[in-house]
Amino acid sequence: MAFPSAWLDELLHKNDIVSVVSEYVELKPKGRKLWACCPLHGEKTPSFSVSPDKQLFYCFGCHAGGTVIQFVMDMERLTFYEAVQMLANRANMELPNEINDREMQRQRAYKKRLIEANTEAARYYSGCFLNPAIGKDAQGYAARRGLNAEIVTRFGIGYAPDTWDSLLKLLKGKGYSEKELVDAGLLVHNAERNTVYDAFRGRLIFPILGVNGQVLGFGARVMGDEKPKYINTGDTPVYNKRNNLYGLYLHKNEKLDDLIMVEGYMDVIGLYKAGVKNAVASLGTALTQQQARLLKRYVEKVYICYDGDAAGQNATVRGLDILKAEGLEVRVITIPDGLDPDEYVQVYGKEGFDRLKENALSLNAFKLEAMAKGYDLNDENGRERYAKTACAFVAGLQPIEQERYYRLIAKKTGYALEALEAQGVRSGGLQMTEDRTPIRGGFRRRIETGEDPRDVTERTLILACLHDKLALSRAIAENAAELIKNDTYRAMFLAMCEQGSAFSAAKYIGELDEKQAETASAVLKEEDAMENAIETTADCIRRMRRESAEDEIAALRAKLNKPDLTAEERNAVLKEITERIRANK
Ligand code: GTP
Ligand code: MN
Repeated sequence: MAFPSAWLDELLHKNDIVSVVSEYVELKPKGRKLWACCPLHGEKTPSFSVSPDKQLFYCFGCHAGGTVIQFVMDMERLTFYEAVQMLANRANMELPNEINDREMQRQRAYKKRLIEANTEAARYYSGCFLNPAIGKDAQGYAARRGLNAEIVTRFGIGYAPDTWDSLLKLLKGKGYSEKELVDAGLLVHNAERNTVYDAFRGRLIFPILGVNGQVLGFGARVMGDEKPKYINTGDTPVYNKRNNLYGLYLHKNEKLDDLIMVEGYMDVIGLYKAGVKNAVASLGTALTQQQARLLKRYVEKVYICYDGDAAGQNATVRGLDILKAEGLEVRVITIPDGLDPDEYVQVYGKEGFDRLKENALSLNAFKLEAMAKGYDLNDENGRERYAKTACAFVAGLQPIEQERYYRLIAKKTGYALEALEAQGVRSGGLQMTEDRTPIRGGFRRRIETGEDPRDVTERTLILACLHDKLALSRAIAENAAELIKNDTYRAMFLAMCEQGSAFSAAKYIGELDEKQAETASAVLKEEDAMENAIETTADCIRRMRRESAEDEIAALRAKLNKPDLTAEERNAVLKEITERIRANK
């Protein structure tokens, strides 16, 4: 999504960061910056700063930072493209692709139309539910499941009457075409007979809303025990279950500590009714990366709370790694007795559920538990084999954690702690995806899982140079561009070198495609770069030189393994290696 340069200029010019931020908080000047209590995380003393000269913001509390576009992304929980759209709207500008792209315009209008049809349908289903005659059975069913009037309203629960064409007639009467209604998933097209009919009949309706509160699709449940239990809207131009989480829209403007991932509509609703309001559902599908990213826009910590049955447990294991890979802190709530979350809160209430949440397992403990299920622990042999695998797993964890988990294995198997530790040491530790925080001299910053420490150094260097002209001169003098490995970062740094103080990060990032923009935006969040820019720059360059020398040495070492190397060549390589190592000390 590259935006034309001149258009972005205008967008940024018309959306001064100070005026945009001021719509959310009151900024007070101090020094060359403006300050406020951070609107992105709750706080009492202001650590959120806006620099009008650089058109950047940074929060020393939560480390959010970036351009006005990033601010809108964080504040409104939007993607890059959506944030640009919103700012364009704010400034009364048309999006550039709409100016000259007819097809794009048409698609957008069509999607809007399908959402309107869905909204009409939701309104209709809701009316049917509330209608004393038509909705009688549905009301009875809802009441039996504990859904009171408040819940019905909050979740927009409806009823689709048991007819073939009542929705069809209504929406055709309102001017929607059969094609539109089929595309929205509201009607089904029977190709053989070339007829269309209502997709949902005689079912309780759960509208599925997107994060912006638009009706994207529906879940429809039978009220008896016919099959299938649920019919859900399939993929349509406006809805894709892989990109959406049921119930998330309720939290758009809230600050949450955590979210609870459950499987179904009724789990979200049942928990909500019991007072646990922060559950969202993946709707029976395995958790996707897109959903994990969506969660990451709202919280740092996610509890997985899938059904207690085998399918739920398997889904949990798969979900864990996806969430972890997106940098979320993950815990697992296990519901006893094979109940699902909705059933559990019905019996034990919020207190019961909160207790389960307090006792939620960490990722590793959960993995150890899941591992145990593969062995018969009543049998000596099974215990021994489980202990061996489990110890190998634990040996790969951080030392502090190890003790806790050896204890857990001891409890499960009856082996003595010392024996288990010795076993773990012998196994050498399985290669696990757990994060081990690298130790880094001068730098205080913790390296997150999956993050390349070199990228962190490169980002820190760039931001330091962005903040301080002298730091930039120094980096230029030291030929830092040659040391930057990441293409996106190197290009950004080169642009800074070229443009000097005319460089605008917001504009530069806005001109990149979406993927690169995301990478480049990360530069603006490196806290270490903010404090002593010149020293930090020197430190970064030192690190980069050392790492680059280490690369060269590794490449030389690799040469030694070549089969056709003569003795002479070999000696030459060895000599070069020793020299490099000496020079690098
Ligand atoms: P209740 O049985 O009403 O309590 O619903 P639930 O939300 O507990 O459903 P369950 O745990 O059985 O399934 C979890 C989710 O998987 C549901 O919310 C649906 O989204 C989906 N699902 C369940 N059964 C079906 C089905 O028969 N067809 C389809 N397409 N999806 C289903
Ligand atoms: Mn259920």
